[in-house]
Amino acid sequence: MLKTARLLPLMFGLIALPALAGDLEQPMKKMGFNYKQATKASDTAAMEKYITQMRSEIDDAKTRKMPTAKQEKFLEGLNEVQGELDASLAALKAGDEAKAREHLAKVNDLKKEYHQYAKQKG
Ligand code: HEM
Repeated sequence: MLKTARLLPLMFGLIALPALAGDLEQPMKKMGFNYKQATKASDTAAMEKYITQMRSEIDDAKTRKMPTAKQEKFLEGLNEVQGELDASLAALKAGDEAKAREHLAKVNDLKKEYHQYAKQKG
């Protein structure tokens, strides 16, 4: 009994470790929310705020557990999304809201493309 009690923290640690690393679900949910907010935003300051948040959520996503066979392609997609977000932020800074929204639309295309890939078998 005493032995089991001493082993418990170790057993718990072994179970909790992979859970800590987490998968893509959490940062994806946040990204989806902030994307919607960014596209709905009526002023450029709010757009900038939500896009900047998305950018750091992608940084988080890159550290998450991914299917090994798909990891390289997932990272490629996440970097592409970040590139579009950076271009969108640059356009906002230059005062070109229309261009910023075009880059946001490209983020949606990338999302569709990579989600389709994520669903494929293998
Ligand atoms: C381009 C690279 C991307 C990759 C590789 C990717 C990958 C994934 C994967 C694997 C899942 C399933 C996660 C799970 O349930 O375990 C997922 C879910 C999701 N992704 Fe992405 N995604 C990408 C881009 C995006 C973007 C740009 C957005 C938003 C603008 C987005 C929003 C979401 C949302 C809302 C979910 C559903 C989360 C839930 O409620 O379970 N993703 N994505």
